[in-house]
Amino acid sequence: MHKPEFDIKYKEHLKRKILDLKKKNNVLIVAHNYQRDEIQEISDITGDSYALACKVKEASQKIIVFCGVKFMAESAYMLSPDKTILLPVEEAGCPLADMVTVEKLREKKREYPSAAVVCYVNSTAHVKAESDICCTSSNAINVVKSLKQKQIIFVPDKNLGRYVSEHVRDKEIILWDGYCTVHMRLTADEVLKTKKLHPDAEFIAHPECREEVIALADYVGSTAGMIKYVKNSESKEFIIGTELGIIYKLQRDNPGKNFYVPTEQFICANMKLTTLGWLVRSLEKKVYKIEVPNDVTEKARKALEKMLAVS
Ligand code: 13P
Ligand code: SF4
Repeated sequence: MHKPEFDIKYKEHLKRKILDLKKKNNVLIVAHNYQRDEIQEISDITGDSYALACKVKEASQKIIVFCGVKFMAESAYMLSPDKTILLPVEEAGCPLADMVTVEKLREKKREYPSAAVVCYVNSTAHVKAESDICCTSSNAINVVKSLKQKQIIFVPDKNLGRYVSEHVRDKEIILWDGYCTVHMRLTADEVLKTKKLHPDAEFIAHPECREEVIALADYVGSTAGMIKYVKNSESKEFIIGTELGIIYKLQRDNPGKNFYVPTEQFICANMKLTTLGWLVRSLEKKVYKIEVPNDVTEKARKALEKMLAVS
């Protein structure tokens, strides 16, 4: 058997195994929009950080396999501590989430004692526990607007924080120097070059992109927001300003539309760690169980629940 043929047959074998194990153990599989195509295909639900947290909370299944990165699985656990949350690859982290620590945040809070702390969900459970409210890229503007405080410490993503500050002019947003190492790779120059090649294409971008990249966008929003925007838009061509995993759903939902990539570097290696093989292992061995200490969960859940009440 030639290798490509073997690969296809092996993938089909793994997919059958996943479906059997899922049914046998009554498991819900959820996947973030950046996961590999075959992982999105086999999952029950795909979505952005916000939608997945809500879906896990509402789910009737008691075991959830979360195909994504650790902070997402932790949030799911903290919102649904009665459920078993499994992350197929233990090392699937998010460099942005590690750019703020509890100690540094406490220092900042001492510097601005009357400020509220808004924490992007791309953060650790401990940092969420130190924050007043969480947000995702889909609700960050509304979350900040909902607060009575005029000063906001926004952690850890400076690009999302700056984007929010442009839409909430009556508040002072104190930015943290954190950023997504993947979204920062896209330059305005690359976008302009792609626009030149495809002058009719709309440019859609995630708010984690650089300021000068956001300035070129026709639409800025979460991954779910981008998917919705493309579906409703009259345009037939789009330049993608986020991780390339999103193209799976865009192509599936919009067969007549074309998608262009300004940089081949738009890959989140952590998101791509989850493969069909690791998913099988996760279902078979019930690994890796994500848990957060009770005292941290209690405080962080308050910040997450406050966010859910706003959006
Ligand atoms: P979304 O919530 O928009 O899906 O984004 C999550 C993320 O990690 C972006 O890099
Ligand atoms: Fe984290 Fe960036 Fe990957 Fe999103 S794309 S999970 S922010 S490293």
